[in-house]
Amino acid sequence: MSNICVIGTGYVGLVTGTCFADLGNQVTCLDVDDERISNLKQGVMPIYEPGLEQLVAHNVRAGRLIFTTNYAEALENAEFAFIAVGTPSGVDGEADLQYVRSAAEMIADCVDNSLVVINKSTVPVGTGDWVADVISKRREGKPLDYYVVSNPEFLREGSAINDFMSPDRVVLGSTNREAARRVAQLYLSLRCPILVTDLRTAEMIKYASNAFLATRISFINEIANMCEELGADVREVSVGMGLDKRIGSAFLDAGLGWGGSCFPKDVKALAHMAVLHGTQPQLLQAVMEINRNQRRRAVMRIRRALGSLNEKTVGVLGLSFKPNTDDVRDAPALEIIHLLQNEGAHVRAYDPQAMELASRLLKRVTMCENPYEVAEGSDALVLATEWNEFKQLDFARIYESMRTPIILDGRNLWEQDKLLSLGFTYFGIGRAVTAK
Ligand SMILES: NC(=O)c1ccc[n+]([C@@H]2O[C@H](COP(=O)([O-])OP(=O)(O)OC[C@H]3O[C@@H](n4cnc5c(N)ncnc54)[C@H](O)[C@@H]3O)[C@@H](O)[C@H]2O)c1
Repeated sequence: MSNICVIGTGYVGLVTGTCFADLGNQVTCLDVDDERISNLKQGVMPIYEPGLEQLVAHNVRAGRLIFTTNYAEALENAEFAFIAVGTPSGVDGEADLQYVRSAAEMIADCVDNSLVVINKSTVPVGTGDWVADVISKRREGKPLDYYVVSNPEFLREGSAINDFMSPDRVVLGSTNREAARRVAQLYLSLRCPILVTDLRTAEMIKYASNAFLATRISFINEIANMCEELGADVREVSVGMGLDKRIGSAFLDAGLGWGGSCFPKDVKALAHMAVLHGTQPQLLQAVMEINRNQRRRAVMRIRRALGSLNEKTVGVLGLSFKPNTDDVRDAPALEIIHLLQNEGAHVRAYDPQAMELASRLLKRVTMCENPYEVAEGSDALVLATEWNEFKQLDFARIYESMRTPIILDGRNLWEQDKLLSLGFTYFGIGRAVTAK
Protein backbone atom coordinates (compact mmCIF):
# COMPACT_ATOMS: atom_id res chain seq x y z
CA MET A 1 0.00 0.00 0.00
CA SER A 2 1.34 3.43 -0.93
CA ASN A 3 0.37 6.92 0.08
CA ILE A 4 -0.63 8.88 -3.00
CA CYS A 5 -1.72 12.45 -3.63
CA VAL A 6 -3.50 13.24 -6.91
CA ILE A 7 -3.59 16.91 -7.87
CA GLY A 8 -6.61 17.82 -10.00
CA THR A 9 -9.95 16.00 -9.84
CA GLY A 10 -11.05 16.20 -13.48
CA TYR A 11 -11.57 13.30 -15.86
CA VAL A 12 -8.00 12.07 -15.38
CA GLY A 13 -7.27 12.98 -11.76
CA LEU A 14 -10.49 11.69 -10.27
CA VAL A 15 -10.33 8.42 -12.19
CA THR A 16 -6.63 7.96 -11.36
CA GLY A 17 -7.12 8.66 -7.66
CA THR A 18 -10.18 6.47 -7.39
CA CYS A 19 -8.59 3.57 -9.24
CA PHE A 20 -5.38 3.73 -7.20
CA ALA A 21 -7.54 3.70 -4.05
CA ASP A 22 -9.41 0.70 -5.41
CA LEU A 23 -6.06 -1.05 -5.89
CA GLY A 24 -5.56 -0.71 -2.13
CA ASN A 25 -3.59 2.51 -1.82
CA GLN A 26 -4.29 5.43 0.51
CA VAL A 27 -5.25 8.30 -1.80
CA THR A 28 -5.91 11.98 -1.25
CA CYS A 29 -7.43 13.81 -4.23
CA LEU A 30 -6.82 17.54 -4.21
CA ASP A 31 -8.34 20.34 -6.24
CA VAL A 32 -8.30 24.13 -6.07
CA ASP A 33 -12.00 24.20 -6.92
CA ASP A 34 -13.81 24.44 -3.53
CA GLU A 35 -17.22 23.58 -4.94
CA ARG A 36 -15.89 20.50 -6.72
CA ILE A 37 -14.28 19.19 -3.53
CA SER A 38 -17.24 19.93 -1.30
CA ASN A 39 -19.50 18.13 -3.80
CA LEU A 40 -17.14 15.17 -3.95
CA LYS A 41 -17.19 14.96 -0.15
CA GLN A 42 -20.96 14.56 -0.44
CA GLY A 43 -20.67 11.95 -3.17
CA VAL A 44 -21.66 14.34 -6.00
CA MET A 45 -19.54 13.76 -9.11
CA PRO A 46 -18.17 16.77 -11.03
CA ILE A 47 -18.23 14.81 -14.30
CA TYR A 48 -20.28 12.09 -15.92
CA GLU A 49 -18.21 8.94 -16.27
CA PRO A 50 -19.89 5.51 -16.21
CA GLY A 51 -19.22 3.58 -12.97
CA LEU A 52 -17.24 6.38 -11.33
CA GLU A 53 -19.78 7.44 -8.72
CA GLN A 54 -20.09 3.90 -7.34
CA LEU A 55 -16.32 3.35 -7.32
CA VAL A 56 -15.73 6.65 -5.51
CA ALA A 57 -18.41 5.82 -2.91
CA HIS A 58 -16.96 2.35 -2.36
CA ASN A 59 -13.44 3.62 -1.73
CA VAL A 60 -14.54 6.55 0.41
CA ARG A 61 -16.48 4.09 2.59
CA ALA A 62 -13.41 1.85 2.81
CA GLY A 63 -11.42 4.86 4.09
CA ARG A 64 -8.92 4.73 1.22
CA LEU A 65 -10.04 7.87 -0.64
CA ILE A 66 -10.38 11.40 0.69
CA PHE A 67 -10.81 14.82 -0.87
CA THR A 68 -9.31 18.15 0.07
CA THR A 69 -8.38 21.62 -1.17
CA ASN A 70 -5.48 21.80 1.27
CA TYR A 71 -2.06 21.06 -0.28
CA ALA A 72 -0.24 20.66 3.04
CA GLU A 73 -2.79 18.11 4.23
CA ALA A 74 -2.78 16.25 0.90
CA LEU A 75 1.00 16.01 0.72
CA GLU A 76 1.75 15.40 4.39
CA ASN A 77 2.58 11.71 4.12
CA ALA A 78 2.56 11.34 0.37
CA GLU A 79 5.23 9.23 -1.31
CA PHE A 80 3.83 10.00 -4.77
CA ALA A 81 2.22 13.19 -6.10
CA PHE A 82 0.45 12.85 -9.45
CA ILE A 83 -0.11 16.11 -11.31
CA ALA A 84 -3.35 15.73 -13.32
CA VAL A 85 -4.37 19.35 -13.90
CA GLY A 86 -5.57 20.76 -17.22
CA THR A 87 -3.17 21.83 -19.99
CA PRO A 88 -5.47 23.76 -22.33
CA SER A 89 -4.43 25.49 -25.55
CA GLY A 90 -2.73 28.85 -25.18
CA VAL A 91 -3.22 31.69 -27.67
CA ASP A 92 -0.80 30.31 -30.27
CA GLY A 93 -1.80 26.67 -29.87
CA GLU A 94 0.91 25.93 -27.32
CA ALA A 95 0.00 23.99 -24.16
CA ASP A 96 -0.76 26.44 -21.35
CA LEU A 97 1.29 25.23 -18.38
CA GLN A 98 0.07 27.69 -15.76
CA TYR A 99 -1.82 25.02 -13.78
CA VAL A 100 1.13 22.62 -13.89
CA ARG A 101 3.41 25.41 -12.69
CA SER A 102 1.11 26.28 -9.86
CA ALA A 103 0.87 22.62 -8.77
CA ALA A 104 4.67 22.26 -8.90
CA GLU A 105 5.13 25.42 -6.82
CA MET A 106 2.65 24.22 -4.22
CA ILE A 107 4.49 20.89 -4.02
CA ALA A 108 7.74 22.80 -3.44
CA ASP A 109 6.10 24.89 -0.72
CA CYS A 110 4.33 22.10 1.14
CA VAL A 111 6.60 19.04 1.08
CA ASP A 112 9.47 18.09 3.35
CA ASN A 113 9.53 14.33 2.93
CA SER A 114 11.06 12.60 -0.09
CA LEU A 115 8.63 12.44 -2.96
CA VAL A 116 8.16 11.21 -6.53
CA VAL A 117 6.38 13.87 -8.59
CA ILE A 118 4.53 12.32 -11.52
CA ASN A 119 3.28 14.30 -14.51
CA LYS A 120 0.08 12.71 -15.71
CA SER A 121 -1.10 15.82 -17.50
CA THR A 122 -0.29 15.90 -21.21
CA VAL A 123 2.65 18.28 -21.36
CA PRO A 124 5.08 19.44 -24.05
CA VAL A 125 8.34 17.59 -24.45
CA GLY A 126 10.76 19.05 -21.92
CA THR A 127 8.14 19.85 -19.29
CA GLY A 128 9.41 17.16 -16.90
CA ASP A 129 12.78 18.96 -16.77
CA TRP A 130 10.99 22.28 -16.41
CA VAL A 131 8.86 21.02 -13.49
CA ALA A 132 12.04 19.84 -11.74
CA ASP A 133 13.48 23.28 -12.33
CA VAL A 134 10.40 25.06 -10.97
CA ILE A 135 10.52 22.96 -7.80
CA SER A 136 14.29 23.35 -7.31
CA LYS A 137 14.22 27.13 -7.80
CA ARG A 138 11.35 27.48 -5.37
CA ARG A 139 13.28 25.43 -2.79
CA GLU A 140 16.53 27.36 -3.13
CA GLY A 141 18.55 26.90 0.06
CA LYS A 142 16.17 24.20 1.28
CA PRO A 143 16.79 21.17 -0.96
CA LEU A 144 14.09 18.58 -1.39
CA ASP A 145 14.62 14.90 -2.09
CA TYR A 146 12.41 14.36 -5.13
CA TYR A 147 12.37 12.99 -8.66
CA VAL A 148 10.09 13.77 -11.58
CA VAL A 149 8.53 10.95 -13.60
CA SER A 150 6.44 11.37 -16.72
CA ASN A 151 3.47 9.01 -16.78
CA PRO A 152 1.19 10.10 -19.63
CA GLU A 153 -2.41 8.99 -19.43
CA PHE A 154 -4.16 7.19 -22.28
CA LEU A 155 -7.64 6.66 -20.81
CA ARG A 156 -10.70 7.53 -22.88
CA GLU A 157 -13.64 9.39 -21.43
CA GLY A 158 -16.67 7.11 -21.37
CA SER A 159 -14.59 4.01 -20.59
CA ALA A 160 -12.05 5.64 -18.29
CA ILE A 161 -12.18 3.18 -15.38
CA ASN A 162 -11.77 0.15 -17.58
CA ASP A 163 -9.00 1.88 -19.54
CA PHE A 164 -7.16 2.72 -16.32
CA MET A 165 -7.57 -0.78 -14.87
CA SER A 166 -6.76 -2.63 -18.12
CA PRO A 167 -4.37 -0.38 -20.02
CA ASP A 168 -2.66 -1.44 -23.24
CA ARG A 169 0.54 -0.13 -21.68
CA VAL A 170 1.89 2.13 -18.96
CA VAL A 171 4.60 4.55 -20.04
CA LEU A 172 7.07 5.89 -17.49
CA GLY A 173 9.79 8.36 -18.30
CA SER A 174 12.42 9.50 -15.87
CA THR A 175 16.03 10.48 -15.49
CA ASN A 176 16.07 8.27 -12.41
CA ARG A 177 15.49 4.51 -12.92
CA GLU A 178 14.72 3.94 -9.23
CA ALA A 179 11.95 6.58 -9.25
CA ALA A 180 10.46 5.00 -12.40
CA ARG A 181 10.71 1.56 -10.79
CA ARG A 182 8.82 2.78 -7.74
CA VAL A 183 6.01 4.20 -9.89
CA ALA A 184 5.98 0.95 -11.89
CA GLN A 185 5.25 -0.89 -8.62
CA LEU A 186 1.96 1.02 -8.36
CA TYR A 187 0.86 -0.50 -11.67
CA LEU A 188 2.21 -4.04 -11.27
CA SER A 189 -1.11 -5.56 -10.27
CA LEU A 190 -2.63 -4.41 -13.59
CA ARG A 191 -0.37 -6.93 -15.38
CA CYS A 192 0.17 -4.78 -18.45
CA PRO A 193 3.33 -3.93 -20.39
CA ILE A 194 5.29 -1.16 -18.67
CA LEU A 195 7.60 0.82 -20.90
CA VAL A 196 10.34 2.79 -19.15
CA THR A 197 11.99 5.58 -21.14
CA ASP A 198 13.67 8.90 -20.55
CA LEU A 199 11.44 11.86 -19.64
CA ARG A 200 11.24 13.47 -23.06
CA THR A 201 10.53 10.25 -24.89
CA ALA A 202 7.59 9.48 -22.58
CA GLU A 203 6.20 12.96 -23.16
CA MET A 204 6.52 12.51 -26.93
CA ILE A 205 4.83 9.07 -26.86
CA LYS A 206 1.65 10.71 -25.59
CA TYR A 207 1.57 13.44 -28.24
CA ALA A 208 2.55 11.07 -31.04
CA SER A 209 -0.19 8.62 -30.02
CA ASN A 210 -2.95 11.23 -29.97
CA ALA A 211 -1.75 12.83 -33.19
CA PHE A 212 -1.65 9.45 -34.90
CA LEU A 213 -5.20 8.59 -33.85
CA ALA A 214 -6.42 11.99 -35.05
CA THR A 215 -4.56 11.38 -38.32
CA ARG A 216 -6.38 8.09 -38.87
CA ILE A 217 -9.73 9.81 -38.43
CA SER A 218 -8.84 12.69 -40.75
CA PHE A 219 -7.53 10.17 -43.26
CA ILE A 220 -10.76 8.19 -43.36
CA ASN A 221 -12.77 11.41 -43.51
CA GLU A 222 -10.82 12.49 -46.57
CA ILE A 223 -11.54 9.10 -48.12
CA ALA A 224 -15.21 9.50 -47.07
CA ASN A 225 -15.52 12.76 -48.95
CA MET A 226 -14.18 11.05 -52.05
CA CYS A 227 -16.59 8.14 -51.54
CA GLU A 228 -19.53 10.56 -51.53
CA GLU A 229 -18.52 11.87 -54.92
CA LEU A 230 -17.39 8.57 -56.42
CA GLY A 231 -20.31 6.40 -55.34
CA ALA A 232 -18.46 4.18 -52.85
CA ASP A 233 -19.39 3.39 -49.25
CA VAL A 234 -16.75 4.41 -46.71
CA ARG A 235 -18.12 2.08 -44.04
CA GLU A 236 -17.22 -0.91 -46.16
CA VAL A 237 -13.94 0.69 -47.18
CA SER A 238 -13.09 0.92 -43.45
CA VAL A 239 -13.97 -2.72 -42.89
CA GLY A 240 -11.93 -3.76 -45.89
CA MET A 241 -8.95 -1.73 -44.72
CA GLY A 242 -9.28 -2.70 -41.08
CA LEU A 243 -9.13 -6.44 -41.83
CA ASP A 244 -5.54 -5.90 -42.90
CA LYS A 245 -3.54 -6.68 -39.75
CA ARG A 246 -1.04 -3.99 -40.67
CA ILE A 247 -3.84 -1.42 -40.51
CA GLY A 248 -6.41 -2.62 -37.93
CA SER A 249 -9.95 -1.34 -37.60
CA ALA A 250 -9.80 1.14 -34.68
CA PHE A 251 -10.19 4.85 -35.38
CA LEU A 252 -11.29 4.32 -38.97
CA ASP A 253 -14.88 5.50 -38.65
CA ALA A 254 -15.78 8.40 -40.89
CA GLY A 255 -17.93 11.09 -39.29
CA LEU A 256 -17.98 14.71 -38.27
CA GLY A 257 -14.35 14.54 -37.18
CA TRP A 258 -12.49 14.42 -33.90
CA GLY A 259 -13.02 16.76 -30.99
CA GLY A 260 -12.90 16.65 -27.22
CA SER A 261 -10.53 17.88 -24.59
CA CYS A 262 -7.44 16.12 -25.95
CA PHE A 263 -7.01 15.60 -29.70
CA PRO A 264 -7.57 19.22 -30.79
CA LYS A 265 -5.28 20.77 -28.21
CA ASP A 266 -2.67 18.03 -28.40
CA VAL A 267 -2.35 18.05 -32.20
CA LYS A 268 -2.14 21.85 -32.05
CA ALA A 269 0.46 21.75 -29.28
CA LEU A 270 2.56 19.18 -31.15
CA ALA A 271 2.47 21.29 -34.32
CA HIS A 272 3.42 24.32 -32.24
CA MET A 273 6.37 22.43 -30.74
CA ALA A 274 7.52 21.43 -34.21
CA VAL A 275 7.48 25.01 -35.52
CA LEU A 276 9.19 26.26 -32.37
CA HIS A 277 12.03 23.82 -32.97
CA GLY A 278 12.35 24.47 -36.68
CA THR A 279 10.61 21.45 -38.20
CA GLN A 280 7.58 21.61 -40.49
CA PRO A 281 4.47 19.81 -39.18
CA GLN A 282 2.97 19.47 -42.68
CA LEU A 283 0.99 16.32 -41.97
CA LEU A 284 -0.37 17.67 -38.67
CA GLN A 285 -1.50 20.89 -40.40
CA ALA A 286 -3.39 18.85 -43.00
CA VAL A 287 -4.92 16.64 -40.32
CA MET A 288 -6.27 19.73 -38.53
CA GLU A 289 -7.51 21.35 -41.72
CA ILE A 290 -9.37 18.21 -42.82
CA ASN A 291 -11.01 18.10 -39.41
CA ARG A 292 -12.15 21.74 -39.56
CA ASN A 293 -13.44 21.16 -43.05
CA GLN A 294 -15.48 18.14 -42.01
CA ARG A 295 -17.65 20.34 -39.80
CA ARG A 296 -18.02 23.03 -42.47
CA ARG A 297 -18.89 20.38 -45.03
CA ALA A 298 -21.74 19.08 -42.87
CA VAL A 299 -23.25 22.56 -42.73
CA MET A 300 -22.70 23.04 -46.45
CA ARG A 301 -24.65 19.85 -47.20
CA ILE A 302 -27.63 20.99 -45.14
CA ARG A 303 -27.50 24.45 -46.70
CA ARG A 304 -27.51 22.93 -50.18
CA ALA A 305 -30.45 20.71 -49.32
CA LEU A 306 -32.45 23.61 -47.91
CA GLY A 307 -31.35 26.31 -50.36
CA SER A 308 -30.49 28.63 -47.47
CA LEU A 309 -30.18 28.24 -43.73
CA ASN A 310 -31.64 31.63 -42.92
CA GLU A 311 -34.69 31.33 -40.64
CA LYS A 312 -34.57 27.52 -40.99
CA THR A 313 -34.78 25.30 -37.92
CA VAL A 314 -32.15 22.62 -37.50
CA GLY A 315 -32.34 19.92 -34.83
CA VAL A 316 -29.11 18.55 -33.39
CA LEU A 317 -28.95 15.18 -31.63
CA GLY A 318 -25.93 14.86 -29.35
CA LEU A 319 -23.75 17.64 -27.96
CA SER A 320 -20.90 15.86 -26.18
CA PHE A 321 -17.82 15.21 -28.32
CA LYS A 322 -18.51 11.48 -28.13
CA PRO A 323 -21.03 9.18 -26.40
CA ASN A 324 -20.89 8.29 -22.69
CA THR A 325 -19.39 11.55 -21.53
CA ASP A 326 -20.73 15.00 -20.71
CA ASP A 327 -17.53 16.62 -22.02
CA VAL A 328 -18.33 19.22 -24.68
CA ARG A 329 -14.84 20.69 -25.07
CA ASP A 330 -14.26 21.21 -28.79
CA ALA A 331 -17.25 19.01 -29.62
CA PRO A 332 -18.10 18.96 -33.35
CA ALA A 333 -21.77 19.57 -32.44
CA LEU A 334 -20.96 22.92 -30.85
CA GLU A 335 -19.05 24.23 -33.82
CA ILE A 336 -21.71 23.01 -36.23
CA ILE A 337 -24.32 24.83 -34.14
CA HIS A 338 -22.28 28.04 -34.28
CA LEU A 339 -21.89 27.73 -38.05
CA LEU A 340 -25.63 27.12 -38.47
CA GLN A 341 -26.48 30.10 -36.29
CA ASN A 342 -24.03 32.31 -38.20
CA GLU A 343 -26.13 31.63 -41.28
CA GLY A 344 -29.36 32.54 -39.53
CA ALA A 345 -30.62 29.09 -38.52
CA HIS A 346 -32.55 28.38 -35.32
CA VAL A 347 -31.22 25.38 -33.43
CA ARG A 348 -32.98 22.84 -31.23
CA ALA A 349 -30.89 20.23 -29.45
CA TYR A 350 -30.88 17.29 -27.08
CA ASP A 351 -28.13 15.28 -25.38
CA PRO A 352 -28.55 12.60 -22.68
CA GLN A 353 -25.81 14.05 -20.43
CA ALA A 354 -24.19 17.16 -21.86
CA MET A 355 -26.97 19.76 -22.02
CA GLU A 356 -25.97 21.53 -18.83
CA LEU A 357 -22.32 21.99 -19.85
CA ALA A 358 -23.27 22.81 -23.44
CA SER A 359 -25.77 25.45 -22.31
CA ARG A 360 -22.91 27.42 -20.77
CA LEU A 361 -21.20 27.64 -24.17
CA LEU A 362 -24.20 28.04 -26.46
CA LYS A 363 -26.60 30.90 -26.93
CA ARG A 364 -30.11 30.86 -28.39
CA VAL A 365 -30.35 27.07 -28.58
CA THR A 366 -33.66 25.50 -27.57
CA MET A 367 -32.75 22.57 -25.34
CA CYS A 368 -35.30 19.75 -25.66
CA GLU A 369 -36.41 16.85 -23.47
CA ASN A 370 -35.88 14.12 -26.07
CA PRO A 371 -35.09 13.47 -29.76
CA TYR A 372 -38.75 13.74 -30.79
CA GLU A 373 -39.05 17.24 -29.37
CA VAL A 374 -35.90 18.19 -31.32
CA ALA A 375 -37.41 16.92 -34.58
CA GLU A 376 -40.71 18.76 -34.04
CA GLY A 377 -40.98 21.48 -36.71
CA SER A 378 -37.32 21.10 -37.81
CA ASP A 379 -36.24 21.58 -41.39
CA ALA A 380 -33.28 19.25 -40.93
CA LEU A 381 -32.01 16.88 -38.27
CA VAL A 382 -28.28 16.35 -37.62
CA LEU A 383 -26.96 13.39 -35.68
CA ALA A 384 -23.76 14.70 -34.08
CA THR A 385 -23.04 12.14 -31.32
CA GLU A 386 -23.86 8.44 -31.55
CA TRP A 387 -25.38 7.85 -28.10
CA ASN A 388 -27.01 4.42 -27.75
CA GLU A 389 -30.42 5.95 -27.18
CA PHE A 390 -30.35 7.43 -30.70
CA LYS A 391 -29.86 4.04 -32.34
CA GLN A 392 -33.48 2.94 -32.36
CA LEU A 393 -35.78 5.90 -32.92
CA ASP A 394 -39.36 5.93 -34.19
CA PHE A 395 -38.53 7.48 -37.56
CA ALA A 396 -42.13 7.38 -38.79
CA ARG A 397 -42.99 9.66 -35.87
CA ILE A 398 -40.00 11.89 -36.62
CA TYR A 399 -40.96 12.08 -40.31
CA GLU A 400 -44.45 13.23 -39.41
CA SER A 401 -43.25 15.95 -37.05
CA MET A 402 -40.50 17.53 -39.18
CA ARG A 403 -41.23 20.46 -41.44
CA THR A 404 -38.89 19.09 -44.11
CA PRO A 405 -37.64 15.54 -43.59
CA ILE A 406 -33.90 16.00 -44.14
CA ILE A 407 -31.42 13.98 -42.09
CA LEU A 408 -27.68 14.36 -41.89
CA ASP A 409 -26.41 11.26 -40.12
CA GLY A 410 -23.02 12.56 -39.00
CA ARG A 411 -22.00 9.23 -37.47
CA ASN A 412 -23.44 6.75 -39.98
CA LEU A 413 -25.66 5.36 -37.25
CA TRP A 414 -28.86 4.78 -39.15
CA GLU A 415 -30.07 2.57 -41.98
CA GLN A 416 -30.03 4.64 -45.13
CA ASP A 417 -32.50 2.37 -46.99
CA LYS A 418 -35.02 2.44 -44.16
CA LEU A 419 -34.95 6.22 -43.94
CA LEU A 420 -35.20 6.65 -47.70
CA SER A 421 -38.18 4.31 -47.83
CA LEU A 422 -39.91 6.43 -45.18
CA GLY A 423 -39.44 9.45 -47.44
CA PHE A 424 -36.49 11.17 -45.78
CA THR A 425 -33.76 12.94 -47.70
CA TYR A 426 -30.78 11.21 -46.13
CA PHE A 427 -27.12 12.17 -46.06
CA GLY A 428 -24.59 9.88 -44.42
CA ILE A 429 -20.84 10.46 -44.26
CA GLY A 430 -18.89 8.84 -47.07
CA ARG A 431 -21.90 7.12 -48.58
CA ALA A 432 -22.99 7.80 -52.11
CA VAL A 433 -25.45 10.67 -52.14
CA THR A 434 -28.77 8.99 -52.66
CA ALA A 435 -30.81 11.86 -51.31
CA LYS A 436 -33.86 12.75 -53.34
N1 LIG B 1 -9.78 14.00 -20.38
C1 LIG B 1 -9.15 12.99 -20.97
O1 LIG B 1 -9.75 12.11 -21.56
C2 LIG B 1 -7.64 12.90 -20.90
C3 LIG B 1 -7.01 11.70 -21.29
C4 LIG B 1 -5.62 11.63 -21.21
C5 LIG B 1 -4.89 12.73 -20.78
N2 LIG B 1 -5.54 13.87 -20.43
C6 LIG B 1 -4.72 14.99 -19.95
O2 LIG B 1 -4.83 15.03 -18.52
C7 LIG B 1 -4.82 16.38 -18.05
C8 LIG B 1 -6.07 16.66 -17.25
O3 LIG B 1 -7.18 16.54 -18.11
P1 LIG B 1 -8.68 16.52 -17.54
O4 LIG B 1 -9.57 16.29 -18.72
O5 LIG B 1 -8.75 15.60 -16.39
O6 LIG B 1 -8.81 18.03 -17.05
P2 LIG B 1 -10.05 18.70 -16.29
O7 LIG B 1 -10.13 20.07 -16.83
O8 LIG B 1 -11.24 17.82 -16.36
O9 LIG B 1 -9.58 18.75 -14.77
C9 LIG B 1 -8.52 19.51 -14.31
C10 LIG B 1 -8.73 19.76 -12.83
O10 LIG B 1 -7.54 20.34 -12.30
C11 LIG B 1 -7.93 21.31 -11.34
N3 LIG B 1 -6.80 22.22 -11.12
C12 LIG B 1 -6.34 23.21 -11.91
N4 LIG B 1 -5.28 23.81 -11.37
C13 LIG B 1 -5.02 23.16 -10.20
C14 LIG B 1 -4.02 23.28 -9.21
N5 LIG B 1 -3.05 24.19 -9.31
N6 LIG B 1 -4.08 22.47 -8.16
C15 LIG B 1 -5.06 21.55 -8.03
N7 LIG B 1 -6.02 21.37 -8.95
C16 LIG B 1 -6.00 22.16 -10.04
C17 LIG B 1 -9.15 21.95 -11.94
O11 LIG B 1 -9.90 22.64 -10.97
C18 LIG B 1 -9.86 20.74 -12.52
O12 LIG B 1 -10.73 20.15 -11.59
C19 LIG B 1 -4.69 17.26 -19.30
O13 LIG B 1 -3.34 17.54 -19.52
C20 LIG B 1 -5.21 16.35 -20.41
O14 LIG B 1 -4.67 16.66 -21.66
C21 LIG B 1 -6.89 13.98 -20.46
